[in-house]
Amino acid sequence: MKGIILAGGAGTRLYPTTIAVSKQLLPIYDKPLIYYPLSMLLLAKIRDVLVISTPRDINDYKNLLGDGSRLGINIQYAIQNEPRGLADAFILGADFIGNDDVCLVLGDNVFYGATMSNVLADAKKKILDGGATIFGYPVKNPREFGVVEFDEQKKVISIEEKPKQPKSNYAVPGLYFYDNNVVEIARNVKPSARGEIEITSVNNAYLEKGLLNVTLMGRGMTWFDTGSPKGMHKASGFVKTVQEMQGFYISCIEEIAWRKKFIDDNQLRKLGEELEMTDYGKYILSLLEE
Ligand code: DAU
Repeated sequence: MKGIILAGGAGTRLYPTTIAVSKQLLPIYDKPLIYYPLSMLLLAKIRDVLVISTPRDINDYKNLLGDGSRLGINIQYAIQNEPRGLADAFILGADFIGNDDVCLVLGDNVFYGATMSNVLADAKKKILDGGATIFGYPVKNPREFGVVEFDEQKKVISIEEKPKQPKSNYAVPGLYFYDNNVVEIARNVKPSARGEIEITSVNNAYLEKGLLNVTLMGRGMTWFDTGSPKGMHKASGFVKTVQEMQGFYISCIEEIAWRKKFIDDNQLRKLGEELEMTDYGKYILSLLEE
């Protein structure tokens, strides 16, 4: 399975902060925002990753993440000239995806949960014979998201993008698993009223064929959409609190690469030593004393 991180967009809701800097490079507490979605792909044991960003910002991502070999993975890059919509990721990434299945994660989504590895493994398993897996997460402000509609039997009957009158409080987070048909489906999506090729249209195409799995995330799972200053602040506060209280770091990509055996002890030590002047680097080195 391939992984795509969509890290473009104009970030206008974070102006003036993002006038000169890509949103997904801003810190969520102690690490760049993109580390959080990247860690989801690593936890899903996906080792081929495509980062998509704007012509202005793509080099900053290359400077930050390189070719991925330091983490034992392969990272490639693609440019999105205009924010045409989330489904554009599959059109831009068609060659990269090849004949594989693909997981898309939005560059500004932060997830955390003890059972995350299992949740991701299940999502992958569900599409082994084709189809798509997306998630539903209860929120107070469903109008701002893609929203799942259920019938009385809790069967999913539609997904609506930013509905004025949401039919449930289950939002669809920015983490999606698709079989290879997604490339063709994306190519056939018509732009919405706001002029974007919507991921919600892709999800509805799978739903109409009876091939959409919606896994509800409940208690014990945390999701932040960091699209606003408040969202970024909330996520930062959460990460700081959990890390200080529990001592486990959230979305330390070096740790995940090591635990998943993409890199060995010596490679981890080297990565930790480079950052030794920070608590983050000290944390990496402390893992070797386990
Ligand atoms: O966060 C989850 C939500 O993400 C879903 O519930 C919605 O169904 C989905 O449409 C999306 O809604 P947003 O309004 O939050 O999407 P936004 O336009 O903010 O884009 C999400 C991220 O993707 C953001 O970091 C910018 C990036 N992006 C966006 C577009 C439209 C791109 O890189 N390229 C694009 O063309």
